[in-house]
Amino acid sequence: MKVTVIGTGYVGLTTGICLAYIGHEVICADTNESKIRQLRDGDVPIYEFGLPEMLAACGERIRFTAECREAAGAADIVILAVGTPAKAEGAPELAYLYAAMETVLDGIAEKAAPTLIVNKSTVPVGTGDKLAAMAASRGISERVEIASNPEFLRQGSAVPDTLYPERIVAGGSPAAQAALRALYGPLLRQDFSPPAFAPRPTGLASVPFYAVDLKSAELGKYAANAFLAMKISFINEMANLCDRVGADVSAIAGMLGSDSRIGKAFLQAGIGYGGSCFPKDTKALHHIAGTSGYDFKLLSAVIEVNRFQKYVLVGKLRSALGTLAGRRVTILGLTFKPETDDMREAPSLSIIEALLAEGANVIAHDPVGLRAAKALLPAEAGTTLNLDEALQDADAAVLVTEWPVYLNYGGRTYRERMKRPIFVDGRNALPAADRSWLDYYGVGMRAVPSAALST
Ligand code: UDX
Repeated sequence: MKVTVIGTGYVGLTTGICLAYIGHEVICADTNESKIRQLRDGDVPIYEFGLPEMLAACGERIRFTAECREAAGAADIVILAVGTPAKAEGAPELAYLYAAMETVLDGIAEKAAPTLIVNKSTVPVGTGDKLAAMAASRGISERVEIASNPEFLRQGSAVPDTLYPERIVAGGSPAAQAALRALYGPLLRQDFSPPAFAPRPTGLASVPFYAVDLKSAELGKYAANAFLAMKISFINEMANLCDRVGADVSAIAGMLGSDSRIGKAFLQAGIGYGGSCFPKDTKALHHIAGTSGYDFKLLSAVIEVNRFQKYVLVGKLRSALGTLAGRRVTILGLTFKPETDDMREAPSLSIIEALLAEGANVIAHDPVGLRAAKALLPAEAGTTLNLDEALQDADAAVLVTEWPVYLNYGGRTYRERMKRPIFVDGRNALPAADRSWLDYYGVGMRAVPSAALST
């Protein structure tokens, strides 16, 4: 099939490349010309595991262009994958989506053959109907089908998540659902050769396909993200309670997760969720509910818990050090999670701001995200690419992002580098054997005083 993807962000680019990989003829279009030039040179502008290798494997089946209108006119299926960032009041900004839709309609205006326009951007319920109305206002609705096809990929594992999805959701008319079933056929049947770096999970023979109406698909995407965010806020509240009563949240997460009705995933307590989806989508769903006249109380609590959780570490640090004023604090990790360079809604930014406000001298390290972070960090925050230098003479270290380099550094090495071995682990991720070298503080677990210091 001939597919055009509008938008070359995480979702658009990964989708375009994976669709080309499984055999479709794909054009990725974006108004950002420098991005397009980079992609034409075979250079992937985002840090995403395996994506450059996948692109190289696609050969002639994928092209890149800044001519979005022409690209839309050349396709059987146009996928809209543009950003829907949150506006101040939490509502998603749909201006980019509507602008992209106008361009697509311009591109297909003279085309005789039908076009399926698939929205992959996360949007409020009813947006698909608005897209259909836009086509109708041009008098071409009989040649246009609108579908909603929400995306569930995670950054850092976007390629395997796309090749081996746990479900594919197709919202729209029976004809739109059938076209999406054909588009994703090779994924549904798992009928393609897996790339060497992302082998097919054992036992995966086929992928479930949910054919639903447009509105349910739109709302379902928010429901999935809000539910996962709720799990995280729940375990974070349990962790805060554990801190007060002296229980261990990891033990509780284990007990909870082994109940198959609950599941193990997303019960890792820490500093709260960040990234491009959970913060934005929880606020958007709350706003959507509000505008429909419904007060989604549970979601308000999820959002509030997450806002508070970022500062739990700061309190732990303050009590461990007595005061933060004049103390040198090393921030280990800036990106919202490992294996990405994405700084969107990264909790590190709020944590650093709070530390600086209390007079701490902050020095931050990240193996991948420093470039993106520098534009967002306050000028007073120091940064370095050298981990040893970041830790040198530190009064305390705070693990914010669980990059392997921090987990493999070794308790003893931390202790030797730092002035004082105070280690606040915002992810409960440091290996147990390393903790006894340090004055170790996790989230929702008893503090471990360093063995050497207490003797
Ligand atoms: C998420 C969804 O998982 C994905 O399905 C959707 O398409 C986009 O949003 P992503 O934002 O890439 O993906 O990251 P994810 O791995 O889900 O983590 C989100 C945030 O939650 C991160 O800040 C992570 O550190 C945090 N998290 C996750 C926890 O604090 N605890 C957990 O147990 C899991």
